[in-house]
Amino acid sequence: MTMSEVPTHVPDTCPVVHFDNSRNQPVGGYFQELDEMRELAPAVWNTFGQGFWVVTRFDDQRAAYQDYETFTSESIIAVDPNPQYMWIPTLVDGPDHTQYRRLLNGYFSPANVAKREEQNREIARKIIEELKAKGSCDLAHEFCGEFPTRAFFALAGFDQKDAPRMVELVTTIFDQMSNPDDHSAQAAAAGEISEYFAKLLDDRRANPRDTSTDLTSHLLTCTFNGEPLTQETLLNILGVIILAGLDTMKCQLGYSFYHLATFPEDRQRILDDPSLIPSFVEESLRYYTIVQPARKLGKDVEFAGCPMKKGEMVLLDLAQSCRDPEAFPEADKFIIDRQNNKHLAFGPGAHRCMGSHLARQELVIAIEEWHKAIPNYELTNTEPLTEHGGQRGVNSIPVRWDI
Ligand code: HEM
Repeated sequence: MTMSEVPTHVPDTCPVVHFDNSRNQPVGGYFQELDEMRELAPAVWNTFGQGFWVVTRFDDQRAAYQDYETFTSESIIAVDPNPQYMWIPTLVDGPDHTQYRRLLNGYFSPANVAKREEQNREIARKIIEELKAKGSCDLAHEFCGEFPTRAFFALAGFDQKDAPRMVELVTTIFDQMSNPDDHSAQAAAAGEISEYFAKLLDDRRANPRDTSTDLTSHLLTCTFNGEPLTQETLLNILGVIILAGLDTMKCQLGYSFYHLATFPEDRQRILDDPSLIPSFVEESLRYYTIVQPARKLGKDVEFAGCPMKKGEMVLLDLAQSCRDPEAFPEADKFIIDRQNNKHLAFGPGAHRCMGSHLARQELVIAIEEWHKAIPNYELTNTEPLTEHGGQRGVNSIPVRWDI
């Protein structure tokens, strides 16, 4: 994978790393590398792709996320400083961003998500029932991928039959996100997602549905600066929501199940006391943090002795904050009932995850319902399990159980 020269303005006093985020490695490998980088220095230059800064520690990352004039969201992918696409609200800052979030927050609010709890439990139970009879499955795909997708499609009012293709397209986009060399498959997949939503918008314009249960119909009633949302804006918003809502859940749920399948003593604790599941979920979000947003510098800034230049990218990988020993006692330990777990897995700034209430609900439901139905299962892999970079996730979690 492409590595670049260190630019001349990076002084010898700034550590340089060669952190390739695009490969497969044994599960946990990325977290270990990120921990080592954080202990090396508060800021480093990474030669991967076109090269970018990495700010590694909790307090500094939090401050950066909150200073959108210096750390702008003009691009949020470290290896793609000049995106040829628009994502709303992700790539918008300041008052416009606030206005877009107001249009969307209600649909994903705790109250609206709570109304879907029973429906989501039903979806989870149905998938588990179908899988249970098989006696084995690849948890990563057949449950951790399948359940959140079906739940999300139900919440948004999208047609379930379109879910498999949408998952493929979203996966293509994320697979290429950490690839600095080639964005062609990503562009093709984004084009197909746009076409899909264009047809959906036409349909809902002709046949509007209940705006409290159909996201597309809701968006068609929204205004920005007093005007209805343009077709381009509608497509951008729908595209972002599908990108943000599917792969994240699959990856996070995958790490949670990887943990429970690998550490039977922790699984036994949640079987003995299921009231621990919400705090297990929080610890899993902290310990296995998957999202690694970047920011583009809107001005020159001197940080920890490193001269960062306007236009350069800065990776703010949230796993480094969430596992920072200055912020979390015994940060390197998975503590199921960790108290005061104020992790940043959903982001600490204005772009904080819009789907966090849905995500938390789905994670808890998935783990509760699975373990009610299939409490005893074991891994069947013959090779070490691997994780991918980009948005981190476990590639495959093959398990079996007695039927
Ligand atoms: C466990 C699962 C999830 C994790 C760990 C996660 C994490 C994150 C993080 C860290 C950000 C902030 C990015 C930044 O500051 O650049 C974010 C933003 C976002 N998330 Fe999530 N997310 C998850 C699930 C979801 C779901 C289910 C949805 C569904 C609607 C969603 C929708 C969004 C949206 C729309 C944004 C952009 C918000 C903005 O730019 O204002 N996420 N997410």
